[in-house]
Amino acid sequence: MSFKEPVVIVALDYASAEEALALASTLSPRDCRLKVGLELFVAAGPRIVDALQNLGFDVFLDLKFHDIPNTVARACSRAYDAGVWMMNVHALGGPRMLAAARAAVPPGTRLIGVTVLTSHDAAEIVALGLGEGGARVRALAGMCREAGLDGVVCSPREAALLADLRGDGFVLVTPGIRPAGTPADDQRRTASVAEALRAGADYLVIGRPITKDPDPAAALARCVAEARAQELGIGTDEDGR
Ligand code: C5P
Repeated sequence: MSFKEPVVIVALDYASAEEALALASTLSPRDCRLKVGLELFVAAGPRIVDALQNLGFDVFLDLKFHDIPNTVARACSRAYDAGVWMMNVHALGGPRMLAAARAAVPPGTRLIGVTVLTSHDAAEIVALGLGEGGARVRALAGMCREAGLDGVVCSPREAALLADLRGDGFVLVTPGIRPAGTPADDQRRTASVAEALRAGADYLVIGRPITKDPDPAAALARCVAEARAQELGIGTDEDGR
């Protein structure tokens, strides 16, 4: 992956448009893209997507659609109408739902599938009946590729397992990024920026390590610097690994 384009996607998990726009106004579209997820979308509605796009940012609409094929396809159409750069659906919706979503989203807007949430640990994955996590992620990622999606969301710890699926525009998007010294919060299968890129991630979703930092712009700059260093082959993690 070349860093001519921003690889960091900042997760704007806020309760209001005001808070999201205040943070966005301290960041640059040259350094990052922005993710609108469930909390912000429920609180602020589609207008927040317009407002962020008007500031020049690409928006990843992370609503993880998971419903019957017709409902998901129609929701994807509305997201496409909003002009978002990327959107997602749950791969667990199955092949017919994925195909319906693909048919609803013309090329140009990236449509990706969530494999297994990065908040699940191994015991929870078993409790959900999903078997062994790595095998389930691989099977779901393969299903997404088969359905013509543009990539998947996976844990950075699973990106290497999916290396052979990458390419031809099929990308790996990894949340669960935790720079050294930042708390895991509710995430369970985490990695640093450099580790995720080394494992083959194309885009990194980073929320609280940036948004909860006393200086979010500086926290983003540290992530971008770590990513660039990794690209140039001079990357070590912040703790020297
Ligand atoms: O704050 P943090 O860096 O944990 O934020 C991660 C973001 O990525 C959240 O907005 C979460 O909804 C999202 N996400 C995730 N795991 C997935 C898909 C999306 O953590 N599998």
